[in-house]
Amino acid sequence: MKSTVIVYICCLCLLAFSCDSRPKQNPKYTPATSATDSVINSGGKVAVENYREGARMIAANDCFTCHRVEEKTIGPSYREVAARYHFNDGNVENLAHSIMYGAKGLWGEREMTPHPGLEKRDAMEMARYILSLDTTNKAN
Ligand code: HEC
Repeated sequence: MKSTVIVYICCLCLLAFSCDSRPKQNPKYTPATSATDSVINSGGKVAVENYREGARMIAANDCFTCHRVEEKTIGPSYREVAARYHFNDGNVENLAHSIMYGAKGLWGEREMTPHPGLEKRDAMEMARYILSLDTTNKAN
């Protein structure tokens, strides 16, 4: 009888332990997903599916060290960038160029560091996501 109780207690302990540890087993997938979702959500009325990949890469890179979607920080807000440039192929190229090679003097005195590790097509996806944030309804 005594041993049954001990086994029972052990099972309870095991159960408590496994329940407690389970949520911690996959922690690395959660932040990546929620970072992308928060980028997309803060983007407001975005055609999410088309630009999700660009948003994901922005969240995965160092961009948010210096940029926010809504407020100017070290760099211009992405909303401001979208308001300044029309969403067309030429501007996607130009912004991708700035992202890859850095920029200075276009928005102020602060400098954007180059991102030499980025593929051009990835930089262009990021540029498309940023340009999709325009809410000024200027004619594209
Ligand atoms: C070290 C800070 C810093 C980081 C990191 C950074 N930026 Fe910038 N970014 C800036 C600054 C400052 C400017 C304004 C530069 C200027 O005045 O020419 C800028 C400008 C821009 C522009 C506008 C360029 C133009 O041609 O008008 C875009 C688009 C942009 N950044 C996207 C990004 C993306 C995407 C990333 C991540 C891959 C990134 N930035 C990372 C600081 C940064």
